[in-house]
Amino acid sequence: MKLDRKLILVVGKGGVGRSTVAAAIAGNLAAQGKKTLLYETSANDRFGPYFDKPAVGEAITALAPNLWAVNSTPASALAEYGLMILRWKSVYEMVFENRVSKAFLRAIPGLDDYALLGKAWYHTTEEKRGAPAWDTVVFDMPASGHSVSMLRVPWVIVDTVPEGPLTRDARTVKAMLCDPARTAAVLVTLAEEMPVNEAIELEAKLTALGIVPQQLLVNQVFPQHFPPGAPVSRALDALVASITDAGALSPPLAQLAAHAQLSRDRRALNERYLAELRARAKTRVAELPMLFAQTLGKAEVALLGDRITSA
Ligand SMILES: Nc1ncnc2c1ncn2[C@@H]1O[C@H](COP(=O)(O)OP(=O)(O)OP(=O)(O)O)[C@@H](O)[C@H]1O
Ligand SMILES: [Mg+2]
Repeated sequence: MKLDRKLILVVGKGGVGRSTVAAAIAGNLAAQGKKTLLYETSANDRFGPYFDKPAVGEAITALAPNLWAVNSTPASALAEYGLMILRWKSVYEMVFENRVSKAFLRAIPGLDDYALLGKAWYHTTEEKRGAPAWDTVVFDMPASGHSVSMLRVPWVIVDTVPEGPLTRDARTVKAMLCDPARTAAVLVTLAEEMPVNEAIELEAKLTALGIVPQQLLVNQVFPQHFPPGAPVSRALDALVASITDAGALSPPLAQLAAHAQLSRDRRALNERYLAELRARAKTRVAELPMLFAQTLGKAEVALLGDRITSA
């Protein structure tokens, strides 16, 4: 899928590969010459190692040509956000440092999350010497439920906070999130029972907000080593059948057959849940392969990036 948006939101259940997909998308865009910012929040950073660099921290750092990354925290984002959005230090101090408004701000549900989201949005609008600072911001969002509550904050602010700079910007953020020309939500999942159910739930919640997901990426799909009816599959059938036949197979061969059977089962499970996902989801589904590397690095991330853009 072509991902030439200002803001790409990578969402999904914990552990399914959001950070890997975010890095793959960002790496691909950067390789195409787009100035790309990879944005993560309070993360145990993977981006640095993926691009052979030290772990990414709160300052924007270069990872590759056209590719930068930042790992923001609520505290740093809130201070930055206050200054960026309110533009003048005096206004910032009035709103953020004032004792009464500090207490008031703390009472706003999800202000920390809003600061983190606001920072992502700010970078989409950031300019350098009159030109946009970034072509794309790729946001590696927190896991499922947390990402929805984070995305919902601008709605909460518009509904609960008296008119002022906060509500003005919350409206702008809302408009951007709901504009498919500027924002693409990419949903990452696995072809397994719980992740499929969570992906469907997440798709519904995002759509209800007006953020319609553009792509559902099913990560870590097992390869088809044993196509039904192929000679290799018939050979495996015969081997598996003789495992139960005591003494028919030497122990190492029995072990090998058991492993091969596991791989075939895993693929079958993936196929079953891919079919279920395709039947239930409204979003376009594409697959990403399980990569068998000790640890993923630049080459694997680039491969996944190619798969995502050609899907
Ligand atoms: N297609 C793949 N093939 C093999 N390994 C993968 C693949 N995608 C991700 N991984 C590995 O799976 C692990 C989890 O991936 P990742 O950190 O991207 O998930 P996440 O959704 O960001 O997790 P978290 O919720 O902890 O932030 C990592 O070790 C990553 O390298
Ligand atoms: Mg992650």
